[in-house]
Amino acid sequence: MGKLSGKVAIITGATSGIGKATALLFAEEGADVVITGRRADLGGRVEEEIRQKGARCVFIQADHSQAGDCSRVIERTLAEFSRVDILFNNAGIVTRGTAETTSDEIWNETIAINVTAVWRMSKLVIPIMKKQGKGVIVNNGSDWSVVAGRDVFPYVMSKGAVAMMTKAMALDHARENIRVNAVCPGDTMVDRWLESDYFEYSDAASLEAAVKEASDYLPMGRFGKPEEIAKAVLFLASDDSSFVTGHLLLVDGGNTAQ
Ligand SMILES: NC(=O)c1ccc[n+]([C@@H]2O[C@H](COP(=O)([O-])OP(=O)(O)OC[C@H]3O[C@@H](n4cnc5c(N)ncnc54)[C@H](OP(=O)(O)O)[C@@H]3O)[C@@H](O)[C@H]2O)c1
Repeated sequence: MGKLSGKVAIITGATSGIGKATALLFAEEGADVVITGRRADLGGRVEEEIRQKGARCVFIQADHSQAGDCSRVIERTLAEFSRVDILFNNAGIVTRGTAETTSDEIWNETIAINVTAVWRMSKLVIPIMKKQGKGVIVNNGSDWSVVAGRDVFPYVMSKGAVAMMTKAMALDHARENIRVNAVCPGDTMVDRWLESDYFEYSDAASLEAAVKEASDYLPMGRFGKPEEIAKAVLFLASDDSSFVTGHLLLVDGGNTAQ
């Protein structure tokens, strides 16, 4: 018996990174998993990988900035599995800039995906969980839910909102047996980081140097791995955390301790 045997979990943004690692771990722990994201090719591959482990998995191509797509994910989940026990609001984007340089477009996009989608997906599953008499929501915050960083103003704004949505929802729904918590990862090495211009580098050798320099700043001298974040999400999603709600679980290798 796995820690999530018999449970149905929705994981938003599971085509890569932390969402993908969490979907794989949840499936290993016995859950039926619904995974979402915009990139159908990657989503299909994750779905296949999970099915090969003998678990039930459905990938639904969805853009969570669109209200209709959020509703469609819930409708399809109920059609396939008839219940929702766990929602992991993981889909998110990193956006950069200061208050001065952030455009309306970046502000709105950041809010739509990192904030509104968390509220909307939660609003859709809460009535289902209430009917079931139990449910768990885990939001993906960030170490930037509790401290700020430079030149990431829109992202920090959105992850701060995730922290307070988590606490407010936890209070409102505690008596309905719905727990709401957030995992707050620190720097975690996902493919996107290496594909994007996060590290300023111009060739492979200097990318390695740039990663090393960034790692040296961190207390443990390294980035986190998506699988390490997934284990914390599993704790929050499973009955192991049955008396934990409204909590922001930092999984940051000590970064916010310094
Ligand atoms: N990596 C870190 O260091 C770190 C640190 C703290 C917090 N986080 C948080 O962790 C979460 C996952 O990020 P990650 O680091 O694992 O990076 P990632 O690999 O880029 O994962 C982001 C996921 O979100 C999905 N997504 C983005 N916009 C979406 C949209 N409009 N609709 C549906 N899905 C969308 C992406 O799927 P598609 O592109 O296929 O749509 C992807 O599956 C994010 O909320 C991020 O803020 C990450």
